[in-house]
Amino acid sequence: MEELSAKDKELIRGSWESLGKNKVPHGVIMFSRLFELDPALLSLFRYSTNCDTTQDCVSSPEFLEHVTKVMLVIDAAVSHLDDLPSLEDFLLNLGRKHQAVGVSTQSFAVVGEALLYMLQRSLGQAYTAPLRQAWLSMYGVVVAAMSRGWAENGEDKAD
Ligand code: HEM
Repeated sequence: MEELSAKDKELIRGSWESLGKNKVPHGVIMFSRLFELDPALLSLFRYSTNCDTTQDCVSSPEFLEHVTKVMLVIDAAVSHLDDLPSLEDFLLNLGRKHQAVGVSTQSFAVVGEALLYMLQRSLGQAYTAPLRQAWLSMYGVVVAAMSRGWAENGEDKAD
């Protein structure tokens, strides 16, 4: 995994400043894209109202809470850019929890694509190749830790 440079951090912080203030609408753009990319993921959200369609999902308060949770994890990563390893234990545990609810590690990568789509749509001209790369690097660190937790949980279950 590439180290994040000072420039990467500046690009991430600058772009998140306004997006992070409107987490739910931006998170909804991201998850709507995620379900376009992989509609099978809808079935993993089993709340009081089942997510049969994207519309069902985004009308569900519990689903919107998950959207907020995801955006808060991104927010935490942006606030800890100088010390991402401090999030390791939290992310390992988060990976374990996702293994338990049936999310595959490949799906974390699809979330990454959906994140980039949301950034592109929301930032317009400010979405540049270096900015895309900076976000990919940061999200890559988050997913690497979640995937390690996911794999550990899988091993426990195989025992
Ligand atoms: C393929 C995509 C994903 C699916 C299908 C998925 C599904 C779920 C489900 C079913 C839960 C348990 C119910 C709930 O709390 O709403 C959950 C919890 C959670 N998810 Fe996800 N998730 C996905 C990706 C992510 C990503 C990428 C993040 C953060 C970067 C994330 C952050 C969280 C958090 C913080 C919780 C709460 C964990 C806890 O209870 O301590 N999710 N997710």
